[in-house]
Amino acid sequence: MSDVKSVTFVAQAGGCLNGEIRVPGDKSISHRSIMLGSLSKGRMTITGFLQGEDSLATLKAFRAMGVPIEGPDEQGKVMIDGVGMHGLQAPSEPLDLGNSGTSMRLLTGLLAAQGFDVTLAGDHSLSSRPMKRVTDPVIQMGASITTADNGTAPLIIHSNKQSQLSAIDYHLPMASAQVKSCVLLAGLYAKGQTCVVEPAPTRDHTERMLQGFGYTLDVQKLDEQRSRICLQGGGELTACDIDVPSDISSAAFFMVGASIAKGSDITLKHVGINPTRIGIINILKQMGADICLANEQEVGGEPVADIRIRSAVLQGIHIPEDQVPLAIDEFPAIAIAAACAQGQTILTGAEELRVKESDRIQAMIDGLTILGIDCEGTKDGMIINGGEFTHGSVDSLGDHRIAMSFAMAALRAKGTITIDDCANVNTSFPNFISLANTCGLTIHDNHVVSD
Ligand code: S3P
Repeated sequence: MSDVKSVTFVAQAGGCLNGEIRVPGDKSISHRSIMLGSLSKGRMTITGFLQGEDSLATLKAFRAMGVPIEGPDEQGKVMIDGVGMHGLQAPSEPLDLGNSGTSMRLLTGLLAAQGFDVTLAGDHSLSSRPMKRVTDPVIQMGASITTADNGTAPLIIHSNKQSQLSAIDYHLPMASAQVKSCVLLAGLYAKGQTCVVEPAPTRDHTERMLQGFGYTLDVQKLDEQRSRICLQGGGELTACDIDVPSDISSAAFFMVGASIAKGSDITLKHVGINPTRIGIINILKQMGADICLANEQEVGGEPVADIRIRSAVLQGIHIPEDQVPLAIDEFPAIAIAAACAQGQTILTGAEELRVKESDRIQAMIDGLTILGIDCEGTKDGMIINGGEFTHGSVDSLGDHRIAMSFAMAALRAKGTITIDDCANVNTSFPNFISLANTCGLTIHDNHVVSD
Protein backbone atom coordinates (compact mmCIF):
# COMPACT_ATOMS: atom_id res chain seq x y z
CA MET A 1 0.00 0.00 0.00
CA SER A 2 1.36 3.46 -0.78
CA ASP A 3 0.07 5.63 1.97
CA VAL A 4 2.96 7.27 3.78
CA LYS A 5 2.96 10.84 2.64
CA SER A 6 5.81 13.15 3.33
CA VAL A 7 4.97 16.78 2.77
CA THR A 8 7.59 19.42 2.06
CA PHE A 9 6.85 23.15 1.94
CA VAL A 10 8.77 25.28 -0.53
CA ALA A 11 8.58 29.00 0.29
CA GLN A 12 9.99 31.57 -2.16
CA ALA A 13 11.99 34.47 -0.83
CA GLY A 14 10.48 37.93 -0.45
CA GLY A 15 7.01 39.43 -0.55
CA CYS A 16 4.81 41.04 2.08
CA LEU A 17 1.42 40.29 3.65
CA ASN A 18 -1.63 42.34 2.74
CA GLY A 19 -5.42 42.17 2.85
CA GLU A 20 -8.00 40.78 5.25
CA ILE A 21 -8.06 37.11 6.18
CA ARG A 22 -9.76 34.85 8.69
CA VAL A 23 -7.61 32.07 10.10
CA PRO A 24 -9.29 28.81 11.26
CA GLY A 25 -11.09 28.28 14.55
CA ASP A 26 -9.39 28.06 17.92
CA LYS A 27 -8.06 24.58 18.58
CA SER A 28 -8.36 24.69 22.38
CA ILE A 29 -11.95 25.93 22.23
CA SER A 30 -12.89 23.44 19.49
CA HIS A 31 -11.72 20.49 21.62
CA ARG A 32 -13.57 21.70 24.69
CA SER A 33 -16.79 22.42 22.77
CA ILE A 34 -16.98 18.76 21.67
CA MET A 35 -16.19 17.48 25.17
CA LEU A 36 -18.65 19.65 27.10
CA GLY A 37 -21.30 19.49 24.35
CA SER A 38 -21.16 15.68 24.48
CA LEU A 39 -21.55 15.58 28.27
CA SER A 40 -24.35 18.13 28.38
CA LYS A 41 -28.06 17.45 28.18
CA GLY A 42 -29.75 18.68 25.01
CA ARG A 43 -28.83 19.69 21.47
CA MET A 44 -26.10 22.25 20.91
CA THR A 45 -24.50 23.80 17.84
CA ILE A 46 -20.86 24.74 17.35
CA THR A 47 -19.97 27.25 14.65
CA GLY A 48 -16.45 27.96 13.44
CA PHE A 49 -15.21 24.53 14.61
CA LEU A 50 -11.58 23.90 13.62
CA GLN A 51 -11.53 21.16 10.99
CA GLY A 52 -7.96 20.21 11.81
CA GLU A 53 -6.81 16.69 12.58
CA ASP A 54 -6.42 17.38 16.32
CA SER A 55 -9.93 18.66 17.00
CA LEU A 56 -11.37 16.06 14.60
CA ALA A 57 -9.62 13.39 16.68
CA THR A 58 -11.61 14.60 19.70
CA LEU A 59 -14.83 14.64 17.67
CA LYS A 60 -14.25 11.08 16.43
CA ALA A 61 -13.44 9.90 19.95
CA PHE A 62 -16.83 11.09 21.24
CA ARG A 63 -18.62 9.60 18.23
CA ALA A 64 -16.88 6.32 19.03
CA MET A 65 -18.29 6.63 22.58
CA GLY A 66 -21.83 6.80 21.21
CA VAL A 67 -22.45 10.55 21.06
CA PRO A 68 -24.62 11.59 18.07
CA ILE A 69 -22.56 14.29 16.35
CA GLU A 70 -23.47 15.79 12.94
CA GLY A 71 -20.89 17.60 10.85
CA PRO A 72 -18.67 19.45 10.57
CA ASP A 73 -20.04 20.95 7.37
CA GLU A 74 -17.91 23.20 5.17
CA GLN A 75 -18.54 26.21 7.40
CA GLY A 76 -17.45 24.34 10.48
CA LYS A 77 -20.95 23.79 11.87
CA VAL A 78 -21.25 20.82 14.23
CA MET A 79 -24.41 19.65 16.01
CA ILE A 80 -24.27 17.49 19.11
CA ASP A 81 -27.05 15.72 20.95
CA GLY A 82 -25.43 15.62 24.36
CA VAL A 83 -25.75 12.32 26.24
CA GLY A 84 -25.36 13.78 29.74
CA MET A 85 -22.64 13.20 32.32
CA HIS A 86 -23.17 9.44 32.46
CA GLY A 87 -24.23 8.68 28.90
CA LEU A 88 -20.91 7.77 27.26
CA GLN A 89 -20.55 4.21 26.03
CA ALA A 90 -17.53 1.94 25.74
CA PRO A 91 -15.76 2.43 22.40
CA SER A 92 -15.17 -0.76 20.45
CA GLU A 93 -11.51 0.12 19.77
CA PRO A 94 -8.72 2.20 21.32
CA LEU A 95 -9.30 5.92 20.77
CA ASP A 96 -6.68 7.13 18.30
CA LEU A 97 -5.84 10.71 19.20
CA GLY A 98 -3.16 11.16 16.55
CA ASN A 99 -0.84 14.05 17.36
CA SER A 100 -3.18 15.72 19.83
CA GLY A 101 -1.84 16.30 23.33
CA THR A 102 -4.93 18.28 24.33
CA SER A 103 -7.25 15.39 23.42
CA MET A 104 -5.21 12.88 25.38
CA ARG A 105 -4.63 14.98 28.49
CA LEU A 106 -8.18 16.29 28.84
CA LEU A 107 -9.74 12.90 28.07
CA THR A 108 -7.62 11.30 30.79
CA GLY A 109 -9.52 13.36 33.36
CA LEU A 110 -12.89 13.09 31.73
CA LEU A 111 -12.77 9.31 31.23
CA ALA A 112 -11.34 8.45 34.64
CA ALA A 113 -14.75 7.88 36.18
CA GLN A 114 -16.55 6.01 33.41
CA GLY A 115 -17.95 2.53 33.80
CA PHE A 116 -15.82 1.07 30.97
CA ASP A 117 -12.20 0.45 30.03
CA VAL A 118 -10.78 2.71 27.37
CA THR A 119 -7.37 2.96 25.72
CA LEU A 120 -5.98 6.30 24.57
CA ALA A 121 -3.38 5.98 21.82
CA GLY A 122 -1.46 8.46 19.70
CA ASP A 123 1.16 8.84 17.00
CA HIS A 124 4.91 8.58 17.54
CA SER A 125 5.26 12.16 18.84
CA LEU A 126 2.28 11.95 21.21
CA SER A 127 3.46 8.55 22.47
CA SER A 128 6.73 10.09 23.60
CA ARG A 129 5.24 13.10 25.41
CA PRO A 130 4.96 13.17 29.23
CA MET A 131 1.61 11.91 30.53
CA LYS A 132 2.45 11.37 34.20
CA ARG A 133 1.55 15.02 34.72
CA VAL A 134 -2.08 14.00 34.11
CA THR A 135 -2.14 10.39 35.25
CA ASP A 136 -0.58 11.22 38.66
CA PRO A 137 -3.34 13.55 39.92
CA VAL A 138 -6.14 11.46 38.45
CA ILE A 139 -4.72 8.30 40.06
CA GLN A 140 -4.56 10.22 43.35
CA MET A 141 -8.28 10.85 42.88
CA GLY A 142 -8.89 7.11 42.70
CA ALA A 143 -8.62 6.30 39.00
CA SER A 144 -6.88 3.23 37.73
CA ILE A 145 -4.64 3.87 34.74
CA THR A 146 -1.96 1.75 33.10
CA THR A 147 0.71 3.50 31.04
CA ALA A 148 3.75 2.45 29.03
CA ASP A 149 6.95 1.96 31.10
CA ASN A 150 8.02 5.59 31.15
CA GLY A 151 4.55 6.92 31.93
CA THR A 152 3.73 7.62 28.30
CA ALA A 153 0.85 6.59 26.02
CA PRO A 154 -0.87 4.31 25.31
CA LEU A 155 -2.91 4.93 28.44
CA ILE A 156 -5.39 2.30 29.54
CA ILE A 157 -8.02 3.88 31.75
CA HIS A 158 -9.80 1.17 33.67
CA SER A 159 -13.49 1.08 34.38
CA ASN A 160 -14.54 2.91 37.51
CA LYS A 161 -17.75 1.02 38.24
CA GLN A 162 -18.92 3.29 41.04
CA SER A 163 -18.38 6.18 38.65
CA GLN A 164 -16.89 8.02 41.57
CA LEU A 165 -13.56 9.66 42.27
CA SER A 166 -12.48 11.56 45.38
CA ALA A 167 -11.97 15.28 45.21
CA ILE A 168 -8.42 16.59 45.32
CA ASP A 169 -6.66 19.81 46.22
CA TYR A 170 -3.99 19.90 43.55
CA HIS A 171 -1.10 22.33 43.17
CA LEU A 172 0.02 22.17 39.55
CA PRO A 173 3.77 21.47 39.36
CA MET A 174 3.94 23.47 36.13
CA ALA A 175 1.81 26.17 34.49
CA SER A 176 -0.28 23.89 32.25
CA ALA A 177 -3.84 24.43 31.09
CA GLN A 178 -3.99 20.84 29.94
CA VAL A 179 -3.21 19.49 33.41
CA LYS A 180 -5.52 22.04 35.06
CA SER A 181 -8.33 21.06 32.69
CA CYS A 182 -7.73 17.35 33.18
CA VAL A 183 -8.10 17.65 36.96
CA LEU A 184 -11.18 19.91 36.69
CA LEU A 185 -12.86 17.50 34.25
CA ALA A 186 -12.16 14.57 36.59
CA GLY A 187 -13.46 16.79 39.40
CA LEU A 188 -16.88 16.91 37.70
CA TYR A 189 -17.22 13.23 38.66
CA ALA A 190 -15.59 13.42 42.08
CA LYS A 191 -17.20 13.34 45.50
CA GLY A 192 -16.64 16.74 47.10
CA GLN A 193 -14.88 19.89 46.02
CA THR A 194 -11.90 19.61 43.66
CA CYS A 195 -9.48 22.55 43.63
CA VAL A 196 -6.53 23.31 41.39
CA VAL A 197 -3.92 25.94 42.19
CA GLU A 198 -2.04 27.20 39.15
CA PRO A 199 1.40 28.78 39.65
CA ALA A 200 0.80 31.29 36.83
CA PRO A 201 -2.18 32.18 34.64
CA THR A 202 -2.77 29.65 31.84
CA ARG A 203 -5.50 29.57 29.21
CA ASP A 204 -8.87 29.50 30.96
CA HIS A 205 -11.15 28.20 28.21
CA THR A 206 -12.25 25.20 30.29
CA GLU A 207 -13.34 27.44 33.16
CA ARG A 208 -15.17 29.86 30.86
CA MET A 209 -16.92 27.11 28.94
CA LEU A 210 -17.95 25.18 32.06
CA GLN A 211 -19.61 28.35 33.31
CA GLY A 212 -21.23 28.83 29.89
CA PHE A 213 -22.74 25.35 30.31
CA GLY A 214 -24.17 26.42 33.66
CA TYR A 215 -21.58 24.79 35.96
CA THR A 216 -20.63 26.79 39.05
CA LEU A 217 -16.92 27.44 39.52
CA ASP A 218 -15.13 29.37 42.19
CA VAL A 219 -12.06 31.22 40.91
CA GLN A 220 -9.93 32.99 43.48
CA LYS A 221 -6.81 35.02 42.73
CA LEU A 222 -4.21 34.18 45.39
CA ASP A 223 -1.64 36.76 44.28
CA GLU A 224 -0.32 38.39 41.08
CA GLN A 225 0.40 35.02 39.51
CA ARG A 226 -1.42 32.23 41.33
CA SER A 227 -5.11 31.32 41.20
CA ARG A 228 -7.21 28.65 42.84
CA ILE A 229 -10.05 27.16 40.82
CA CYS A 230 -12.62 24.98 42.59
CA LEU A 231 -15.70 23.05 41.57
CA GLN A 232 -18.10 20.70 43.30
CA GLY A 233 -18.47 17.27 41.70
CA GLY A 234 -21.79 15.72 40.72
CA GLY A 235 -23.37 18.57 38.78
CA GLU A 236 -24.83 18.66 35.29
CA LEU A 237 -24.03 20.57 32.13
CA THR A 238 -26.78 22.34 30.20
CA ALA A 239 -26.38 22.46 26.41
CA CYS A 240 -25.13 25.80 25.14
CA ASP A 241 -24.18 26.92 21.60
CA ILE A 242 -20.54 27.81 20.96
CA ASP A 243 -19.16 30.27 18.40
CA VAL A 244 -15.46 29.42 18.06
CA PRO A 245 -13.27 32.49 17.38
CA SER A 246 -10.23 32.30 15.09
CA ASP A 247 -7.17 30.89 16.78
CA ILE A 248 -4.67 33.49 17.97
CA SER A 249 -2.02 30.76 17.76
CA SER A 250 -2.68 30.46 14.01
CA ALA A 251 -2.97 34.24 13.64
CA ALA A 252 0.49 34.49 15.25
CA PHE A 253 2.30 33.35 12.09
CA PHE A 254 0.72 36.18 10.10
CA MET A 255 1.37 38.67 12.90
CA VAL A 256 5.06 37.82 12.76
CA GLY A 257 5.13 37.62 8.94
CA ALA A 258 3.53 41.05 8.57
CA SER A 259 5.79 42.56 11.22
CA ILE A 260 9.01 41.41 9.53
CA ALA A 261 8.07 41.91 5.85
CA LYS A 262 8.39 45.53 4.76
CA GLY A 263 5.24 46.92 3.10
CA SER A 264 2.85 44.59 4.96
CA ASP A 265 -0.56 45.70 6.19
CA ILE A 266 -2.85 42.82 7.07
CA THR A 267 -6.03 42.45 9.11
CA LEU A 268 -6.85 39.16 10.83
CA LYS A 269 -10.58 38.92 11.45
CA HIS A 270 -12.47 37.71 14.52
CA VAL A 271 -9.46 36.44 16.49
CA GLY A 272 -9.82 35.26 20.09
CA ILE A 273 -8.04 37.70 22.40
CA ASN A 274 -8.62 35.95 25.72
CA PRO A 275 -6.21 37.64 28.20
CA THR A 276 -4.61 34.25 28.90
CA ARG A 277 -3.63 33.92 25.22
CA ILE A 278 -2.33 37.37 24.23
CA GLY A 279 1.33 36.94 25.11
CA ILE A 280 2.12 37.07 21.37
CA ILE A 281 0.60 40.57 21.11
CA ASN A 282 2.31 41.79 24.28
CA ILE A 283 5.72 40.40 23.27
CA LEU A 284 5.62 41.65 19.67
CA LYS A 285 4.47 45.09 20.84
CA GLN A 286 7.36 45.21 23.30
CA MET A 287 9.66 44.44 20.35
CA GLY A 288 8.22 47.46 18.51
CA ALA A 289 5.52 45.81 16.37
CA ASP A 290 2.68 47.90 14.96
CA ILE A 291 -0.46 46.08 16.10
CA CYS A 292 -3.96 47.56 16.53
CA LEU A 293 -7.15 45.91 17.69
CA ALA A 294 -10.58 46.86 16.33
CA ASN A 295 -14.18 45.64 16.69
CA GLU A 296 -13.53 44.26 20.15
CA GLN A 297 -16.54 42.27 21.37
CA GLU A 298 -17.44 39.31 23.53
CA VAL A 299 -18.72 36.18 21.75
CA GLY A 300 -20.00 33.31 23.89
CA GLY A 301 -17.89 34.24 26.90
CA GLU A 302 -14.67 34.78 24.91
CA PRO A 303 -13.33 38.20 23.82
CA VAL A 304 -12.60 38.59 20.09
CA ALA A 305 -11.23 41.37 17.87
CA ASP A 306 -9.90 42.14 14.41
CA ILE A 307 -6.12 42.51 14.57
CA ARG A 308 -4.30 44.82 12.14
CA ILE A 309 -0.54 44.44 11.76
CA ARG A 310 1.76 46.65 9.74
CA SER A 311 5.46 46.07 9.20
CA ALA A 312 7.82 47.64 11.72
CA VAL A 313 11.45 47.63 12.77
CA LEU A 314 11.69 45.16 15.66
CA GLN A 315 14.12 45.32 18.58
CA GLY A 316 15.51 42.40 20.55
CA ILE A 317 14.22 42.10 24.13
CA HIS A 318 14.49 39.88 27.19
CA ILE A 319 11.02 38.31 27.04
CA PRO A 320 9.32 38.78 30.43
CA GLU A 321 8.84 35.35 32.05
CA ASP A 322 5.29 36.19 33.05
CA GLN A 323 4.42 36.25 29.33
CA VAL A 324 5.70 32.71 28.72
CA PRO A 325 2.53 30.74 29.61
CA LEU A 326 0.46 33.36 27.77
CA ALA A 327 2.40 32.72 24.54
CA ILE A 328 3.40 29.10 25.09
CA ASP A 329 2.54 27.94 21.56
CA GLU A 330 3.90 31.05 19.84
CA PHE A 331 7.64 30.78 20.54
CA PRO A 332 8.53 29.21 17.19
CA ALA A 333 6.96 32.25 15.48
CA ILE A 334 8.50 34.64 18.03
CA ALA A 335 11.92 33.12 17.30
CA ILE A 336 11.49 34.16 13.64
CA ALA A 337 10.62 37.70 14.77
CA ALA A 338 13.69 37.69 17.04
CA ALA A 339 15.94 36.61 14.16
CA CYS A 340 14.75 39.67 12.19
CA ALA A 341 15.04 42.09 15.14
CA GLN A 342 17.90 44.45 15.87
CA GLY A 343 20.03 43.13 18.72
CA GLN A 344 19.57 40.18 20.98
CA THR A 345 16.40 38.45 22.16
CA ILE A 346 16.56 36.25 25.23
CA LEU A 347 13.92 33.73 26.24
CA THR A 348 14.05 32.13 29.70
CA GLY A 349 11.61 30.14 31.83
CA ALA A 350 10.30 28.20 28.84
CA GLU A 351 11.51 24.64 29.50
CA GLU A 352 8.01 23.38 28.62
CA LEU A 353 8.91 24.05 24.97
CA ARG A 354 11.12 20.98 25.08
CA VAL A 355 8.09 18.67 25.50
CA LYS A 356 5.68 20.07 22.93
CA GLU A 357 4.94 18.35 19.59
CA SER A 358 8.73 18.50 19.14
CA ASP A 359 11.56 19.90 21.25
CA ARG A 360 10.75 23.38 20.00
CA ILE A 361 13.91 24.97 21.39
CA GLN A 362 16.15 22.54 19.50
CA ALA A 363 14.00 22.57 16.36
CA MET A 364 14.10 26.36 16.10
CA ILE A 365 17.80 26.68 16.94
CA ASP A 366 18.71 24.01 14.36
CA GLY A 367 16.61 25.64 11.64
CA LEU A 368 17.71 29.21 12.42
CA THR A 369 21.36 28.13 12.38
CA ILE A 370 20.91 26.53 8.95
CA LEU A 371 19.43 29.84 7.78
CA GLY A 372 22.49 31.78 8.96
CA ILE A 373 21.28 33.15 12.29
CA ASP A 374 23.61 33.34 15.27
CA CYS A 375 21.67 31.73 18.11
CA GLU A 376 21.90 29.18 20.88
CA GLY A 377 19.53 27.02 22.88
CA THR A 378 19.60 27.00 26.67
CA LYS A 379 18.03 24.62 29.16
CA ASP A 380 14.90 26.74 29.38
CA GLY A 381 14.96 29.02 26.36
CA MET A 382 16.95 30.57 23.52
CA ILE A 383 19.32 33.43 22.82
CA ILE A 384 18.86 34.80 19.31
CA ASN A 385 20.93 37.54 17.70
CA GLY A 386 19.14 39.40 14.95
CA GLY A 387 20.60 38.88 11.48
CA GLU A 388 19.63 37.99 7.93
CA PHE A 389 18.18 34.74 6.69
CA THR A 390 20.10 33.14 3.87
CA HIS A 391 18.31 30.17 2.30
CA GLY A 392 18.24 26.45 2.92
CA SER A 393 16.42 23.37 3.94
CA VAL A 394 15.12 22.98 7.50
CA ASP A 395 13.32 20.17 9.30
CA SER A 396 10.00 20.83 11.06
CA LEU A 397 10.33 17.49 12.92
CA GLY A 398 6.67 16.89 12.15
CA ASP A 399 5.69 19.90 14.28
CA HIS A 400 3.00 22.10 12.69
CA ARG A 401 4.10 25.29 14.41
CA ILE A 402 7.76 24.86 13.47
CA ALA A 403 6.73 24.36 9.82
CA MET A 404 4.53 27.47 9.64
CA SER A 405 7.09 29.62 11.46
CA PHE A 406 9.83 28.83 8.95
CA ALA A 407 7.39 29.47 6.11
CA MET A 408 7.12 33.07 7.38
CA ALA A 409 10.90 33.40 7.53
CA ALA A 410 10.93 33.22 3.70
CA LEU A 411 9.44 36.73 3.60
CA ARG A 412 12.84 38.03 4.76
CA ALA A 413 15.15 35.38 3.26
CA LYS A 414 17.70 35.80 0.46
CA GLY A 415 16.60 32.57 -1.23
CA THR A 416 14.08 29.74 -1.09
CA ILE A 417 13.38 28.00 2.21
CA THR A 418 12.42 24.34 2.03
CA ILE A 419 10.74 22.81 5.09
CA ASP A 420 10.53 19.05 5.54
CA ASP A 421 7.95 16.90 7.34
CA CYS A 422 5.04 19.35 7.18
CA ALA A 423 2.04 16.98 7.00
CA ASN A 424 1.08 17.86 10.58
CA VAL A 425 0.23 21.43 9.61
CA ASN A 426 -3.14 19.76 9.02
CA THR A 427 -3.51 19.24 12.77
CA SER A 428 -4.23 22.93 13.36
CA PHE A 429 -4.27 24.84 10.06
CA PRO A 430 -5.42 22.70 7.12
CA ASN A 431 -5.72 25.61 4.64
CA PHE A 432 -2.43 27.27 5.58
CA ILE A 433 -0.85 27.05 2.11
CA SER A 434 -3.85 28.44 0.23
CA LEU A 435 -4.53 31.21 2.77
CA ALA A 436 -0.85 32.23 2.92
CA ASN A 437 -0.75 32.49 -0.89
CA THR A 438 -3.85 34.73 -0.96
CA CYS A 439 -2.18 37.34 1.21
CA GLY A 440 1.37 37.49 -0.16
CA LEU A 441 3.49 34.47 0.66
CA THR A 442 4.62 32.40 -2.35
CA ILE A 443 4.56 28.85 -1.03
CA HIS A 444 3.62 25.40 -2.27
CA ASP A 445 3.68 21.90 -0.88
CA ASN A 446 5.19 18.79 -2.43
CA HIS A 447 3.67 15.46 -1.45
CA VAL A 448 5.84 12.41 -1.77
CA VAL A 449 4.03 9.11 -1.41
CA SER A 450 6.23 6.20 -0.41
CA ASP A 451 5.38 2.52 -0.06
C1 S3P B 1 -3.52 23.71 25.45
C2 S3P B 1 -2.62 24.04 26.42
C3 S3P B 1 -1.18 24.25 26.17
C4 S3P B 1 -0.87 24.38 24.69
C5 S3P B 1 -1.61 23.39 23.87
C6 S3P B 1 -3.10 23.55 24.04
C7 S3P B 1 -4.94 23.53 25.81
O1 S3P B 1 -0.46 23.14 26.69
O2 S3P B 1 0.52 24.24 24.48
O3 S3P B 1 -1.30 23.58 22.49
O4 S3P B 1 -5.81 23.53 24.92
O5 S3P B 1 -5.22 23.42 27.02
P1 S3P B 1 0.02 23.13 28.24
O6 S3P B 1 -1.18 23.36 29.02
O7 S3P B 1 0.59 21.77 28.48
O8 S3P B 1 1.04 24.20 28.34
